[in-house]
Amino acid sequence: MWVFLLMVLWPVAASTARSDVKPGCQEKCGNVSVPYPFGILEPSCAMNDDFFLNCTSNDEGHHELFYAANMPISNISELEGTVTVGIDAAFSCYNKTGIQTDSFAQSMTLRSGPFMFSHTRNIFTAIGCDTLAVVVNSESNYGAACLSLCTEYVEMSDGNPCSGSGCCQTSIPKGLNSLYYLLSSSYNYTNVSDFNRCGFAFLADKRSLKISHWPLSRTTIYGKDAYATDVVIEWVVENKTCEQAKANTSAYSCGTNAYCTDPDEIDQGYRCLCNKGFEGNPYLKDGCQDIDECKGGNPCQEGTCKNTIGDYKCRCPLGKYGDGKTRCTGVGIITIISGN
Ligand SMILES: *[C@@H]1O[C@H](CO)[C@@H](O)[C@H](O)[C@H]1NC(C)=O
Ligand SMILES: *[C@@H]1O[C@H](CO)[C@@H](O)[C@H](O)[C@H]1NC(C)=O
Ligand SMILES: *[C@@H]1O[C@H](CO)[C@@H](O)[C@H](O)[C@H]1NC(C)=O
Ligand SMILES: *[C@@H]1O[C@H](CO)[C@@H](O)[C@H](O)[C@H]1NC(C)=O
Ligand SMILES: *[C@@H]1O[C@H](CO)[C@@H](O)[C@H](O)[C@H]1NC(C)=O
Ligand SMILES: *[C@@H]1O[C@H](CO)[C@@H](O)[C@H](O)[C@H]1NC(C)=O
Ligand SMILES: *[C@@H]1O[C@H](CO)[C@@H](O)[C@H](O)[C@H]1NC(C)=O
Ligand SMILES: *[C@@H]1O[C@H](CO)[C@@H](O)[C@H](O)[C@H]1NC(C)=O
Repeated sequence: MWVFLLMVLWPVAASTARSDVKPGCQEKCGNVSVPYPFGILEPSCAMNDDFFLNCTSNDEGHHELFYAANMPISNISELEGTVTVGIDAAFSCYNKTGIQTDSFAQSMTLRSGPFMFSHTRNIFTAIGCDTLAVVVNSESNYGAACLSLCTEYVEMSDGNPCSGSGCCQTSIPKGLNSLYYLLSSSYNYTNVSDFNRCGFAFLADKRSLKISHWPLSRTTIYGKDAYATDVVIEWVVENKTCEQAKANTSAYSCGTNAYCTDPDEIDQGYRCLCNKGFEGNPYLKDGCQDIDECKGGNPCQEGTCKNTIGDYKCRCPLGKYGDGKTRCTGVGIITIISGN
């Protein structure tokens, strides 16, 4: 009896066998899902050349997805309009007498097309005790610097505010598609060499950045990717507003049961989202599929749930009336029969 009840009441895991790619296209490159408008292997799998990505196999035979050279992709979200890439941190290291032993400056340019570094998700960070990190773009119309000093060891806990002692953070403006960052120092770490000989600078996704992973006094290990961070790139489809895009139906990128939005954070370009009651990939023609609201738990206040396209209905128990989504009134037949 209990087993039976459990089977009936246990929410059924939503098993929507929906696809995020065009028919016949590969869904994944190694670990990473490649939702449309992105595509791999066949140019026709992508919306256009801007979204056609390189899935290559490395020396160990693992497939890796690249946004551009030295920019491996760890995640693509077609719902948020983001691509997350791994980018090596810039660093600069000195020996005890203040001679630079190792350094790396990061320079990255996004692909041509509707891509930009997310100014809401990313933050520029410098780590060190004698550390000046400078960040500029290639057009030289943006520049910023972050200075961090300390005279004794600073604990890099996740609660560290990074306000200039041991670490420093500054935001980036919207719309950038290239960045160059490098490190410099006032005294070559000679005053702090007992506990700190390297400075680091990087752009990183605020959601995944853990300052505790960046303790002072790290020496560099060859194999720079030990110091990579997640960087979020935002994308939109086409260089048009929703209004402009809808004017040309043959070029409009939002599928059936999807709508168009002009993101606040981007001046040119639009994104698509599924209408309320639908889920899936809004860029595919029939990507947005009806959500079966009755699956996995009854959303009705009272009565039985019946799924409809884009919505659901709640039928009140026998003898009661009203909209079961909010309230049923009257005395139910079941209540009378069971005599309570
Ligand atoms: C797949 O993902 C796991 C966990 O996220 C990671 O450890 C592993 O390196 C990934 N493999 C490849 C080939 O990227
Ligand atoms: C894909 O990457 C490989 C290795 O980095 C490179 O040789 C090839 O030219 C790239 N292909 C495209 C289409 O970018
Ligand atoms: C990819 O990004 C989306 C949106 O930020 C997130 O919901 C999802 O969990 C991420 N997937 C992985 C494997 O990190
Ligand atoms: C620092 O590096 C320089 C040049 O390699 C070397 O001459 C000097 O001895 C080094 N100092 C220490 C303390 O290792
Ligand atoms: C700092 O390092 C640079 C490059 O290694 C060197 O030219 C300079 O003399 C150093 N300055 C001090 C104060 O050690
Ligand atoms: C750091 O060391 C330099 C000499 O290398 C010295 O001139 C300077 O005053 C020191 N700064 C501090 C803050 O101790
Ligand atoms: C987008 O369009 C505007 C005007 O139509 C143009 O100035 C701009 O360069 C375009 N941007 C891209 C990335 O194509
Ligand atoms: C509409 O879009 C199609 C496909 O991109 C293009 O060939 C055509 O020139 C566009 N028409 C107008 C009026 O812009």
